[in-house]
Amino acid sequence: MNSREIRQKFLDFYKGRGHVVIPSASLIPENDSTLLFVNSGMFPLVPYLLGESHPSGVRLVNSQKSFRSEDIEEVGDSRHDTLFEMLGNWSLGDYFKEEQLHWWYEFLVDGLKIDPKRLYQTVYVGDPAIGAEKDEESISIIRDIFKEYGIDAEEGEETVGKGAVGPGVPIDFSRVRIMAYRDKNWWKRGDAIGELGGPDSETFYDTGRPHDQKFGEHCHLNCDCGRFIEIGNSVFMQYKKTAGGWEEIKNKNVDFGGGLERILMAENEITNIFETDLFAPIIDRLEVLSGRRYGDDMRSFEIVADHLKAAAFLIGDDKGIVPSNVGQGYIVRRLIRRAVRYGRQLGITESGWMKTVLPTVLDIYAGVYPELERNFGFISVELDKEEEKFARSLENGIKEFDKMAGKGNISGKEAFYLYQSYGLPKEDIEELCGQKGISFDGSGFDEELKKHQDLSRTASAGMFKGGLADSSEETTRLHTAAHLMLAALRAVLGDHVLQKGSNITAERLRFDFSHPTKMTDEEIEKVEDLVNGWIRSDLPVIVDEMDIDEAKKTGAMGVFDDRYGDRVKVYTIGDGKVSIEICGGPHVSKTSEIGDFKIIKEESASSGIRRIKAITIK
Ligand code: ALA
Repeated sequence: MNSREIRQKFLDFYKGRGHVVIPSASLIPENDSTLLFVNSGMFPLVPYLLGESHPSGVRLVNSQKSFRSEDIEEVGDSRHDTLFEMLGNWSLGDYFKEEQLHWWYEFLVDGLKIDPKRLYQTVYVGDPAIGAEKDEESISIIRDIFKEYGIDAEEGEETVGKGAVGPGVPIDFSRVRIMAYRDKNWWKRGDAIGELGGPDSETFYDTGRPHDQKFGEHCHLNCDCGRFIEIGNSVFMQYKKTAGGWEEIKNKNVDFGGGLERILMAENEITNIFETDLFAPIIDRLEVLSGRRYGDDMRSFEIVADHLKAAAFLIGDDKGIVPSNVGQGYIVRRLIRRAVRYGRQLGITESGWMKTVLPTVLDIYAGVYPELERNFGFISVELDKEEEKFARSLENGIKEFDKMAGKGNISGKEAFYLYQSYGLPKEDIEELCGQKGISFDGSGFDEELKKHQDLSRTASAGMFKGGLADSSEETTRLHTAAHLMLAALRAVLGDHVLQKGSNITAERLRFDFSHPTKMTDEEIEKVEDLVNGWIRSDLPVIVDEMDIDEAKKTGAMGVFDDRYGDRVKVYTIGDGKVSIEICGGPHVSKTSEIGDFKIIKEESASSGIRRIKAITIK
């Protein structure tokens, strides 16, 4: 079956069971500031899962275009993509586990003819801290389902914790088909107050690949080695996050989502999503453009194919996003520049090549996402512009290289300059040197890179003299907490709040800001909740270097304007939705490293300036 057949079959299957087909929502969220892009089918349905009545009833089905920026770096292993389609069905307080699990297996085994012996299921192990019990009901339903296919499904050892390492014992997958996990089987979109969540039960497809011990001694269903690939997730959405923890909501909902690309892969008994008809034509086109074979450098082909498709969808949405330096636009820029870079690696350098792949992407989705066709011209122009911008920077780098090469071999220092100022990758410099028949000091380059990293760390610490006492782990955690707190203060009190100074030691953070009146207890609590929500959402903290003018355009808060030169570092937390600050660092790389955040004092510092003292508890 091809992607069109499977997509249609899924919709028809659920239509036949009383579901109404709803259209795919835009990739750009509406009235929701918690995420940059729609990343699952449930996203536009949150109000209805919470109890609002949906105009199409209590049984819904669709195929939703979805984008996950957190997977950008994962692309290249033949099973990850950033832009994917999620097949979804929902029960808004109507049917529950019994129907959901039976229907899903009926669709897979009877509808798609997937061999049930290749299917495995995880369930929720329970958590006393939440007051939620082990999902014995799902276990018994799954056993019954397998029995119908003549299979005796046993349960394996439980995993209590994050689940990445599994139970740590050998598992006989000829008998064991069900495994219970804790963190991996509690689905939530985020940790902020008001978020929905619940136990889930995921279906895994056995690719038959041998286990790779790099990922742990023993394989298990959630192992990252690539043997088992998740193809669908039934979430029993029945809790809401409150200040006191997870509380049951009015409805027992079902929120099911399965990646079309992976289901298609399983149906076709292959182990690579890039060999399905949702990617293969793009790979073919790239082979023609590059004159190289996919098998020669699968990772580069996959990165280019995925990023180009994703950029086309994000720009081609009716609420299309164009490349920029901030928030959503920054992601689009990153996708395009990465695609150009890996394209160059494949030898694709002809200017304007990206848009020549667009018709292939459009063909794949013709009639399914008509906005792509509608916005074809716009996508072409934007791809072209960004490709050119990046190419110009690289070109200037090459000119600079030529000047250097005229004087002889390229030192590590020179190479590093080309990399830092023009984005010229190390591999390119190496190649350019080869072409000129001069030598290139690769290990000198590595040393420079390391020296630069160390130096910028020291410089940052120096820059914050009086601001940051040292660069120990504790002060680093408090420093990132200070960025989050400024964002929270502005969210709670208003945009008049500006940072007026800070002083951070290993024990506490002291922070002065403009605000005319004493904060109420309620305001303080709100700020703490916001910061702790962001910490628990484990947001990435990303650093970029750019010209100060460019940085200002991103809307970055520039607290110490006069202390900076032309090039500045910009720290972005949560894809630019939470905080963007010009800052020397250092910072933690993910907010979860901070620990719990607590304000211990709020007082007057001087007229119109308030002072907060806060701590973090690991
Ligand atoms: N919302 C669930 C997911 O994204 C189905 O996995």
